[in-house]
Amino acid sequence: MPIQPTAKIWHNGNLIPWDKAQIHVMSHVVHYGSSVFEGLRCYGQPSGAAVFRLPEHMQRLLDSAKIYRMPMAYSLDQLSTAVVEVIEANGIAPCYIRPIAFRGYGEIGVNPKHSPVDVYIANFPWGKYVPGDAADVCISSWNRSAPNTTPSLAKAGGNYLNSQLIRMEADVNGYVEGIALDVNGYLSEGSGENLFIVRNGVIYTTPLANSVLSGITRDSILTLARHFGMPVVEQAMPRELLYIADEVFFTGTAAEVTPIRSVDRITIADGNPGPITRQLADEFIGIANGLRPDRYGWLTPVNVNVEQPVSV
Ligand SMILES: Cc1ncc(COP(=O)(O)O)c(C=O)c1O
Repeated sequence: MPIQPTAKIWHNGNLIPWDKAQIHVMSHVVHYGSSVFEGLRCYGQPSGAAVFRLPEHMQRLLDSAKIYRMPMAYSLDQLSTAVVEVIEANGIAPCYIRPIAFRGYGEIGVNPKHSPVDVYIANFPWGKYVPGDAADVCISSWNRSAPNTTPSLAKAGGNYLNSQLIRMEADVNGYVEGIALDVNGYLSEGSGENLFIVRNGVIYTTPLANSVLSGITRDSILTLARHFGMPVVEQAMPRELLYIADEVFFTGTAAEVTPIRSVDRITIADGNPGPITRQLADEFIGIANGLRPDRYGWLTPVNVNVEQPVSV
């Protein structure tokens, strides 16, 4: 889906016109992938709109920058305020928000130290990421990066070269998404989603040691599962556990909670989203849309008139 331009983008403390948010072709990031970024969603509410888990996302941006020794001139509070500022300036909600920090125009060598760090925050309307009600996926022939190569806890632009290979391979073979294994052959995650399996009433997800991003939706689902008293286990898992699972689903800011219907053309249970997936997805989206109590303080209100407020 083409990006829908908005009026303003936040750049290093100022709101600039969308079309002026440009960089030089010799910027370090263009050649070496030296960016860290975030993806957040702002949801419509019965009255107004709110960003979901804003400080957690901006903290992860700061963490990603720290891993790459990228000095950030803005604090957690400043970055969080900037997100609210750009949403309110554009007056668009619901929306997706894309903060990005990268090494700009400076030197041409690999060492990024002498290339300045630029920070931008854009927002724009963005609907469903994984098409359909449930996903038909495959195991990718591409592995996730091994530990001690590119760090998976950093949400860095360069990591998404691996994601692109996974996603394109899935696409050309007629699947909507691919699941990668880690370097040891254990389940890792989708190209842009964390992975959950339900079997015999127990919820399993892959631990951070299996080369996954520390997903904020993953954390939200783990929190909700514990709230419902559902047993939750983070452990390494073999690929074939997917085939014999009762339920499988992805989580992610873009994908939200996406039920998985089949893996490698093997149907998961009867092919319909299972009861645990549905309960967790309903609670997640209910909180995000302000229809269920925000008992964890996950919502940051923004002052935007939503054309079609969420109906109770
Ligand atoms: C590789 C990868 N894993 C997992 C996720 C899910 O993370 P989150 O729930 O924080 O969006 C994403 C999305 O950002 C991702 O790109």
